[in-house]
Amino acid sequence: MSNIFKTKPIASLIAETEGKQGLKKALGAFDLTLLGIGAVIGTGIFVLTGVAAATYSGPALVISFILSGLACFFAALCYAEFSASVPVAGSAYTYSYAALGEIWAWIIGWDLILEYAVAISAVAIGWSGYAVTLLQSMGLTLPKAFTLAPLDGGVVNLPAMLIIALISWLLISGVRQTSNLNGTIVIIKLVVIALFIVLAVWHVKPANWVPFMPFGFNGVVSGAAVIFFAYIGFDAVSTAAEETKNPQKNLPRGILYSLLICTALYIVVSLILTGVVKYTAFAHTSAPVAYALQQIGINWGSALVSVGAICGITSVLLVITYGQTRIFFAMARDGLIPKVFGKVSEERKTPVTSTVLVAVVTMITAGFLPIGIVAELANIGTLFAFIIVSIGIWVLRVKKPDLKRSFKTPWVPVVVPLAVLSCGYLIIHLQPATLLRFVVWFAIGMVVYFAYSRHHSLLGKALESEKSSSAS
Ligand code: ALA
Repeated sequence: MSNIFKTKPIASLIAETEGKQGLKKALGAFDLTLLGIGAVIGTGIFVLTGVAAATYSGPALVISFILSGLACFFAALCYAEFSASVPVAGSAYTYSYAALGEIWAWIIGWDLILEYAVAISAVAIGWSGYAVTLLQSMGLTLPKAFTLAPLDGGVVNLPAMLIIALISWLLISGVRQTSNLNGTIVIIKLVVIALFIVLAVWHVKPANWVPFMPFGFNGVVSGAAVIFFAYIGFDAVSTAAEETKNPQKNLPRGILYSLLICTALYIVVSLILTGVVKYTAFAHTSAPVAYALQQIGINWGSALVSVGAICGITSVLLVITYGQTRIFFAMARDGLIPKVFGKVSEERKTPVTSTVLVAVVTMITAGFLPIGIVAELANIGTLFAFIIVSIGIWVLRVKKPDLKRSFKTPWVPVVVPLAVLSCGYLIIHLQPATLLRFVVWFAIGMVVYFAYSRHHSLLGKALESEKSSSAS
């Protein structure tokens, strides 16, 4: 039983990756910041702002963004220390294996499987909203039955399903987002956001900000728990550890810079968005940023923003779908899930089986569920991972005080509790149904761990054989 708390030695994690292909260490803090922004800016700012403003936050959307940004900031400080002391590709899963032990790594891995799968679906639904709006502005109106989920008044969201199929096919064919392509897409995203700001700021009517908190402060926190989705992805920076020059310095910089830049943009956009259009109007659109420009009569701007949003959201989709297969790969390599999930096709050199599996599941959720439900589930998964990573930092400080840390989270006894409390605070403001769905997923995970993973874990097997050889 004690094996379930066994940790993976950090030296062996580093050796495991050094033995591999030896990726070129070329990325610096600037590239990493671009990588972070590329993974972060997408459906959250372009779509969920509308959902949150209309249903929970009202014009106080900006406060919601500040609240969730703060929770992310505390967690990011902890991610930064982890990525600087365990600079290997992976993520919260790998970190927990090193700091907290196998059972916690399993919990995080299982949690990340859910988070990524539902995040893929939510991002695809956001993509669909902009694609449909763009086609409409070109005179092609698709029937609602085939562009919305049943709870939103349609039958199936076909564009969302199609984009997942397309992205999965690209990944199976070996297409990866290269650093250059990512750089270009980040510039497109930043340009369309700047365009929105410059075009719309002149049309802000302070009367639209009244009442500021139509759903009370609780509504603002619930809004924060929903738009938290907009911040998901900054941890993608840590997955580039093996390709980074001087990772101990540059990883924390990349994580923190990308988070700060996105937070600043979100604050400005949310203020302008709710100042231009009455918050209630966002209930009827799945492309709020483009919609706001249409309302002030700048149709060309609206079309350009839609094109930029579509490019930006597509790149987020590429990054997280790729990330999902990497999580499967890492867990299968450790023996915690069947090998087939980590299997790389000999012909294509890509994980065909797991990509197809992820595609089928996420297409079903994206086709038939509304964005709010799916995004909330991704949020609870991420918030939970943030809590465990933050605690992990403290545990690692106590258990391995001598580990070389070139970035140290400041004031750990203050920052870690703040991270845990702020993420926990957001979790309890999600819909009760989201919490229930998460608990069910977690319970299934525990059954799988004790019935399968514990007996197949390579680390566990190594320990067993060590024990039996020392006994004989
Ligand atoms: N933060 C990413 C988005 O908003 C997941 O699309």
